Amino acid sequence: MQADSKRLVILISGSGSNLQAFIDQCASGQLRAHIAAVISNKPGVYGLERAAKAGIHTQVIEHKDYADRESFDAALADLVDSYQPDAVILAGFMRILTPVFVDRFLGRLLNIHPSLLPKYPGLHTHQRAIDAKDSHGGVSVHFVTAELDGGPVILQAEQAIDAHDTAESLAAKVLSKEHIIYPMATDWLLTGRLVLHEDGAYLDAKPLPENGILLD
Ligand code: GRF
Repeated sequence: MQADSKRLVILISGSGSNLQAFIDQCASGQLRAHIAAVISNKPGVYGLERAAKAGIHTQVIEHKDYADRESFDAALADLVDSYQPDAVILAGFMRILTPVFVDRFLGRLLNIHPSLLPKYPGLHTHQRAIDAKDSHGGVSVHFVTAELDGGPVILQAEQAIDAHDTAESLAAKVLSKEHIIYPMATDWLLTGRLVLHEDGAYLDAKPLPENGILLD
């Protein structure tokens, strides 16, 4: 690892296929960074195994061990901070974070959400897109702010919905795009090309459009 290699902390709650994309791109050098730690709020999830297999330090912190949301968020923020991350990557982290956490990492905290934001914040995004007879589903990488799935969008990828798609088949197709756009947006952040200002996200000193950049 190079001395100036940037530090990532990745937060997960599940299978960690996005985490795997980061592991692979850090290993290949496509992303000039290393994963300082993987933190899960759920024990026993497959993402922890992926991290351990790659020799990455793992931690589990469970919200049930804390009196309320704020005290969990404060403990999580302290744990994340202890790894001095250049970027904090939410990769299927299924817990809403309060300003206690978000404000500590504002501008270096990213999330990936499986819809074309601002459409379908929250859960069951693929089913909602199918039910609405949308022609496309997709995925968005965005800065995390205190508003749920509401921070400035950076990068999106679309996926055509065909007549036979179920939420599961659409999710699988979208996931393969997630694995491309998430490390890409993270690279922009780590190299200083992407910056969060008070009035939104900027790439190469130019404001990004409301829906971010659409990757073809
Ligand atoms: C992905 O669909 C992502 O968009 C959402 O959570 C899921 C995580 O999947 N935020 P994985 O654990 O990375 O496979």
